[in-house]
Amino acid sequence: MVIQWFPGHMAKATREVKEKLKLVDIVFELVDARCPLSSHNMYLDEVVKDKKKIIIFNKIDLCDRTETAKWKNYFEKKGYTVVYTDAKNSNNLNKVIDKAKEELAEKIARQVAKGIKPRAIRSMVIGVPNVGKSTFINKLIKKNVANTANKPGVTKKQQWLKLNKDIELLDTPGILMPKFDNQEIGKKLSLIGSIKDDITPLDDVSLYLIELLKQSYLENMNNLYKIDVTADGENVFIMEKIADKRFKKIGGDYDYDSTIKLLIQDFRTQKFGLITLDNYNDMINEEVSDEN
Ligand code: G4P
Repeated sequence: MVIQWFPGHMAKATREVKEKLKLVDIVFELVDARCPLSSHNMYLDEVVKDKKKIIIFNKIDLCDRTETAKWKNYFEKKGYTVVYTDAKNSNNLNKVIDKAKEELAEKIARQVAKGIKPRAIRSMVIGVPNVGKSTFINKLIKKNVANTANKPGVTKKQQWLKLNKDIELLDTPGILMPKFDNQEIGKKLSLIGSIKDDITPLDDVSLYLIELLKQSYLENMNNLYKIDVTADGENVFIMEKIADKRFKKIGGDYDYDSTIKLLIQDFRTQKFGLITLDNYNDMINEEVSDEN
């Protein structure tokens, strides 16, 4: 089963994002810090065109910071401004506002020089599903605005939320899906909950998770399941070891179904500790070899 990349409703969502983009000066693209490249929209520049952009590595509390530093550097070299946040715990959110003001300072200064009174900066949040967009917006608002309740009688259509006197945020995020024909990225997006489980081959996803853990976080996996596998072990063999530790056999066979669910659940509940799915050296080498 191949993961369906760009379902129809995603094309519609992308069109909607493009419409909303016309209204803003700056875009905050949220990515999951555990896979900043895989959850980043490769076509962002095409979609967003000439707007200013800030890439926000959200869920920074969950990732392996050694890898994160490499990815930050990667995006900065491409000209992006990167900010780390933990939206769930409201960490570093005001830094995003500060950076947005910095990014637009020149434009505003030019307007002032022409005698134009600048209006508030308008911003919006975009990103793939489950990277924390709604949490980010809600926490940012609570942090900066005392009362955001809608006025009765006012139709809630598109609302600008005031972050402070200089900057406003569109109340609904733009949902994007990377248009990327790469099954490995699909499996990572499945692990972080961006792609629904019912359209995903979870057996492949869990074997791929074993592969990633085996390459970079072998000890974490061995410790969690009290197994003693080595990096050259076959993925199916490792799965059987885990099954053997955790579940009774069914009719003499390993309980693969329960083991698949367990692996995915353990990743999603951070049982492996702080890990990053996008390994910088692997992916960047890959990018280079793809070009050759
Ligand atoms: P979305 O709008 O982009 O689809 O994402 P949403 O805000 O719904 O967040 C998806 C999940 O990610 C939520 O967890 C949310 O709490 C969690 N989350 C958001 N930001 C962070 C962060 O910086 N760090 C961590 N650790 N988690 C974050 P959930 O399990 O769906 O709900 P709940 O745990 O809030 O009940």
